[in-house]
Amino acid sequence: MDPTSRTETTQRYLTDASHISMDVIGMAGFGHAFNAFDIRPGERTMATETMFMLRNFSAFMAMPPFLRKLPFGWIARMKSATEYFTSSVENIITERQKLVQSGKNVSRDILSLLLDAAPQEGAEYAPLTSKELYSNCLVMLLAGHDTTASTITFTCYHLAANKHVQKIAQQLVDKVLGNRDPEYSDFEKLEYIEWIIRETLRLSPVVVGIPRTNQNDFEWKGTVIPKGSMVFTMFYAHTDPEYFDDPYTFKPDRWDGLELKHRFAYTPFGYGSRSCIGKKFAMIESVIALAMMLQRYDISIDADYGTMEIDAVVTSKPKKDLYVTFTPRKKL
Ligand code: HEM
Repeated sequence: MDPTSRTETTQRYLTDASHISMDVIGMAGFGHAFNAFDIRPGERTMATETMFMLRNFSAFMAMPPFLRKLPFGWIARMKSATEYFTSSVENIITERQKLVQSGKNVSRDILSLLLDAAPQEGAEYAPLTSKELYSNCLVMLLAGHDTTASTITFTCYHLAANKHVQKIAQQLVDKVLGNRDPEYSDFEKLEYIEWIIRETLRLSPVVVGIPRTNQNDFEWKGTVIPKGSMVFTMFYAHTDPEYFDDPYTFKPDRWDGLELKHRFAYTPFGYGSRSCIGKKFAMIESVIALAMMLQRYDISIDADYGTMEIDAVVTSKPKKDLYVTFTPRKKL
């Protein structure tokens, strides 16, 4: 979607949302312009290859290893998508290393922090090995891209289904931004949009379950979960009426001053020492992206779409393609 367009446009989501999040993590985290919106049909980019890998990951992993080596069809495409992705990450690291060696000023971003921890010439010890540097870059790009794309997509769905919420959000955006572009300092003023995203992640969590192994026998609502079991908590707690009133209704207002009755009642970003390190980044990105959309467009989906069903492949995605229509707002 061209953000300056003043004509109605219908876009297949995740694709656009995936381009937004790939461009943002590329520029903000790695100083690299993926220019995901500029690709021509059929062209390969980090965004297209990642989407392909993630969509087919479960089916691929379910295959016996010898079948994963078949040189044709989607299996061969899976291999070439992985190669494309890994070589792109290697190129980004090499480009940055060359820039640093040439003495040029580089931005302080995720990549520069990781490079600081990687082996340096002449130094005896580094916190990360070269392989760990590469793996961490890969994880950051994957975790920072796909999750946010689904979050923006699911938010569009909920906004289309809850026009009164959309109206309130647009009024806030008009008041805070008017016609100008948002700045970092606007984030706090756009709190209602943050509530919309929190509510989206409550009803449509992007990471569908966080596995944990319990260290001791545990009794929950009359059921004993024996020590050593793997438990997935998220879905149930998010819609448990004990923790959220009217749990299946999309109500961003519930977040106004809400104090959770249990610290694990709401965990879209996980919990404990391995919880998401990109939570704040993702929130800012999603709030700003949504604010810019709402500033310019009314968001709707086809009335026949029905209730969104979820396909949980690594992260969750709409099972049936979701086409979102952006209609320029009258005031512009
Ligand atoms: C709305 C978007 C996002 C959601 C819903 C999300 C959710 C999660 C969840 C549920 C986990 C597992 C936590 C656990 O096991 O307790 C996780 C881990 C992680 N996330 Fe995110 N995430 C998002 C965006 C991001 C972004 C933007 C980045 C990077 C810039 C990121 C980087 C990571 C990393 C590196 C981990 C692994 C942390 C570890 O194992 O110590 N995530 N995320």
